[in-house]
Amino acid sequence: MPPVITTAEVGNTKIDIAPLEVISLKLLLEDDKAEHLKLYSAASSLGFFYVDIRDSESYITDVEQLYSTTERYFMQPEEAKLKDFVEADEFRGYKGGKNWGSLEILRDDLDKISLPTVVQPDAATIQRFISCSHEMAHTIIDSLSKNLWPDSKNNLKDQHRQNIPSNTSLKVYRGPMLENLGDVADNTHTDGGTLTLLYTDKWGTQVELPWNKEWAWVEAKPGHAIVNVADALQTFSGGRLHSCRHRITQPIAGFEERWAIAYLFRPENGIALTAL
Ligand SMILES: [Fe+2]
Repeated sequence: MPPVITTAEVGNTKIDIAPLEVISLKLLLEDDKAEHLKLYSAASSLGFFYVDIRDSESYITDVEQLYSTTERYFMQPEEAKLKDFVEADEFRGYKGGKNWGSLEILRDDLDKISLPTVVQPDAATIQRFISCSHEMAHTIIDSLSKNLWPDSKNNLKDQHRQNIPSNTSLKVYRGPMLENLGDVADNTHTDGGTLTLLYTDKWGTQVELPWNKEWAWVEAKPGHAIVNVADALQTFSGGRLHSCRHRITQPIAGFEERWAIAYLFRPENGIALTAL
């Protein structure tokens, strides 16, 4: 039976809330069998779930700090941000326009490049956020591997070895925030990598429910990461895990600043994208 959909009031608009399971990071780390199964079930049905990180206080503090870093970055004049634009590079630097923007920093570049000046005071926070997010992503793929291949040595860690180059990154976003809802461009997509870990405190993501193809909103939950299965993971799993279609949008008309912080966990460069 499909999960029960609850609703919320935003302005005078009633919106449907997507039924995301809550997975405890603490229980995964304690190797709790029931929690591994719950994670597998969430990743193979909706493909979006929460990971409860309330036991990781310093990580939560870093996420909070990154919201202000993000705000400080995007509040700069456009010409300052354009200095971070990287020509013909899908994975690096600033991209943006009047009502939206993103800044992406590759994990592998951290020791090689200088961060944008306005972000530099938070270099240590960024370093710690990347390191903790990376560990969490590894905990998740290790847990999923146990249920995907219980009788074999297959483990997704082999596609995500620690010291092999990858396009894994930190990406921060601004927008959309438009007066007129009709002006919000449709950007329905699936993510290309392995897992996306997202932190936000606003309504901004809609997912397509796989059982009836209807759209529902992902509620921001304090102390929880919003995590989704991406295309490479769906492929590695032979289609058993679900990379869910979603879009970034706003529930009602009107300007409201909107920030999000994502950790885009991607496979090693050059690895064959095929079922394991
Ligand atoms: Fe996405």
